[in-house]
Amino acid sequence: MIKNISVALLAVAVLAGCKNSSTTKSAQVTNAGTVPVAKDVHTLSNADSVDMQHLDLDIAVNMDKKQISGNALWTINNKEKVKTLKLDTYDLSIDSVLVDSKKVTYKLDPQIKFLGSALHIPIGATSTAVRIYYHTGADARALQWLDPQQTHDKLHPFLYTQSESIYARSWIPCADGPGIRFTYTARVKVPKGLLALMSASNPQEKNDSGIYHFNMELPIPAYLMALAVGDIAFKAVDERTGVYAEQGVVEKAHWELEGIGDMVNAAEQLYGPYRWGRYDVLVLPPGFPIGGMENPRLTFCTPTILAGDRSLVSLIAHELAHSWSGNLVTNATWDDFWMNEGFTDYFERRITERMLGKSYVDMLWELGYQDLVDQVKDLEKTPKDTWLKLDLKGRDPDDGLTDIPYEKGSHFLELIERTVGRDSFDHFLAKYFNAHAFNTITTEEFLVYLDSNLIHGDTAILNKLQINKWVYGPGIPANCPRAGQERFAKVDSERVRFLNDVPPAKLATSEWTTHEWLQFLRKMPPALSATQMGKLDEAFNFTTTGNSEIADLWFVMSVRAGYSKAYGAMETFLSSVGRRKFLEPLYGEMMKTPKNAPMAKRLYAKYRKNYHPLAQESLDKLMAK
Ligand code: BES
Ligand code: ZN
Repeated sequence: MIKNISVALLAVAVLAGCKNSSTTKSAQVTNAGTVPVAKDVHTLSNADSVDMQHLDLDIAVNMDKKQISGNALWTINNKEKVKTLKLDTYDLSIDSVLVDSKKVTYKLDPQIKFLGSALHIPIGATSTAVRIYYHTGADARALQWLDPQQTHDKLHPFLYTQSESIYARSWIPCADGPGIRFTYTARVKVPKGLLALMSASNPQEKNDSGIYHFNMELPIPAYLMALAVGDIAFKAVDERTGVYAEQGVVEKAHWELEGIGDMVNAAEQLYGPYRWGRYDVLVLPPGFPIGGMENPRLTFCTPTILAGDRSLVSLIAHELAHSWSGNLVTNATWDDFWMNEGFTDYFERRITERMLGKSYVDMLWELGYQDLVDQVKDLEKTPKDTWLKLDLKGRDPDDGLTDIPYEKGSHFLELIERTVGRDSFDHFLAKYFNAHAFNTITTEEFLVYLDSNLIHGDTAILNKLQINKWVYGPGIPANCPRAGQERFAKVDSERVRFLNDVPPAKLATSEWTTHEWLQFLRKMPPALSATQMGKLDEAFNFTTTGNSEIADLWFVMSVRAGYSKAYGAMETFLSSVGRRKFLEPLYGEMMKTPKNAPMAKRLYAKYRKNYHPLAQESLDKLMAK
């Protein structure tokens, strides 16, 4: 592919790409040099030699045994005529393997840390069908099995998956890399009385057989494979959007998320048609370890966004935005993770701006900037982890899951927008999503595309952007854009009044949204006195708030201030909420002092079982410190 790009920018991309990718298989040739295609170091598969075209999954979900069993039939094209197909597995038991309907002798390698075991299957040059009978293990990192007591309705068990980043291999033998796409069909058998949903065409009600069929005819990477099983109901928002949740939650969830139809329309106006057919949201039980997951056609999300005032739904704008950035155009490797999350954060804020206005979204930008500052400070000792282009070789890809790809990434895009102008940047992005649809992209390929299609080697623009500092440099570059402070300036002056002993009831807070409250609390001095905490609580009822973002911050402040009146509510929160973003700061705060550490240990011992395996893993580390 010949591309006319500026030598200066290409040099940046080529040099950095060479340094960071472990092998160079094929390369993009330009008139100024080559952009290496990075190798994905987190898959043990050889899908670069064998096309994994289609998956036909036939599984049964045993809620009592907490096990998935069945077979995965892969349609392949052995384009390089290799003798062995290598697939990713993690704690899977392989029962038998058939190639073109004939049983073969396979080999399962010993487990490698993070990555799992490569499954070696002998194949012929013309083999097309590889069927693997298997069942999942007790350590399946993608799966969270809930007992009825851990659900909202407390009547039925529940199962959900979280496959990103490399956990699909713990419930499906597959080529588990973001750059490897396939279509899929599935037949899933679940206990009668439960509904199964996937990242595919979905049923809207339970049937008598407990057998459900799915079809995803657009090619997706394995990290977007998803399954949920439970006593789930559906309620439509409009003809292409709707909400799924446990029976007892669906009305509340529907009210809170009624804006998702308009959100899809807003997103389409920005960057072109939504290509996935339906857009539905599944609200999960509270143990879900993250805020949301962009499973195609069916975003999975935490019930902690049901604040009762629709103030936390920008999380859905984020997951919806992934239908373009991530699901349509995917980071080629986990080192390019910012290509997914930075673009999505930027896009999320553009959708939110359209729906709620500039002064509102400025608050989201500012809170994000504060997170970025804190994150850079936390990563002081490993400055390379603050580059946009990551280097995760030999590491768990979840090590890259910091605020850097999100906030440094989105601020970089905001800088480009401000430098070239919004119209040009929007035009460029719409074209970018279109040109790379159902494809993957590395950071280096993006930089080349950016130059060819937007910057055109303009040195004045390049000087303003300082791309190198953002992508291959640490910390927050000096030209980082900042949002307007219109609404937060007012919040800040109310906080000053409070600290000067103005009674809280006299503060001008009546118009505040969640984000103003977060700013109000975040910028309080490190430790308030118990009396000050008490005054705030009396006026604003923080201890009993139903808003999870505010509650989490308030509990952290309570631990810091020794404000024990909040501890009961804090324990209730920790007993059910499984979102890592909330658990880590709270347990982390308790672990900071010898006085509070025993409380952390006691609560964690009691509630660890309620958390997802991935949350358990990161909290185990935190508690051992
Ligand atoms: N795709 C991510 C979640 C993810 C990333 C899971 C990497 C596992 C590995 C999702 O889109 C996300 O970013 N969720 C955020 C919410 C968002 C509003 C920032 C979360 O869960 O907090
Ligand atoms: Zn995301």
